[in-house]
Amino acid sequence: MNEKQLAGEKAAEFIENKTVVGLGTGSTVYFTIKKLSERVSEGLEIKAVSTSTSTTQLANSLGIPLISMNEVERIDLTIDGADEIDAHFNGIKGGGGALLFEKIVANASDQIIWVVDSSKMVQQLGGFPLPIEVVPFGYQHVLAWLRKEGLNPILRIKGNKPFMTDSHHFIIDLHMKRIEKPNQLENFLNGMTGIVEHGLFLNMVDTVIIGNEDSAEVLNLSEGNKLDCRQ
Ligand code: A5P
Repeated sequence: MNEKQLAGEKAAEFIENKTVVGLGTGSTVYFTIKKLSERVSEGLEIKAVSTSTSTTQLANSLGIPLISMNEVERIDLTIDGADEIDAHFNGIKGGGGALLFEKIVANASDQIIWVVDSSKMVQQLGGFPLPIEVVPFGYQHVLAWLRKEGLNPILRIKGNKPFMTDSHHFIIDLHMKRIEKPNQLENFLNGMTGIVEHGLFLNMVDTVIIGNEDSAEVLNLSEGNKLDCRQ
């Protein structure tokens, strides 16, 4: 079994009966959703909120009952993937372009579990380009501003057109290599007109499940679990 599958399937065990579950996006949480559908067919009663069109399609095809984000007050548990996670469980998300809905769902969640393969654990964030979701109007000005700040922005292209998110925004990826001060960068990006959201998810997650060759390791930050991070 591959690491993504090990981590993704393990997370499905944490879903409890009669709860609202946030379903993330990506190739790791895919395995959580598949496993969850088995539990639903065995009688588990849940309602799920989706974070993207692709997750909605998958959940629908597997018979998982979905509810709209506007119909729930809180989400009990959200399970999502990540592109990079550091030793403090801060992360980069948005490699698949679903960061806006993922962050809205994360903000409304009482608990969040990230599921990743072992390559996602890093000493310092930034090796993975940081996705920024921007409105198409005037995006060239945002690009120019980010360039001037030395953040190495590149507009994400799909085919020969700008990549378009589920909310019809563009994505700019910041190729920074190292993010020395994530909190400072977060404040800067939060204050910039034209940026809808960014893929820095700081201080949001307490539990990470890592696929490690042939097992899934459950780590809790509050319990002081040590992380084995890639250099
Ligand atoms: C989607 O936009 C992302 O935030 C994903 O959660 C992230 O890219 C992880 O995806 P994989 O599990 O496919 O690596």
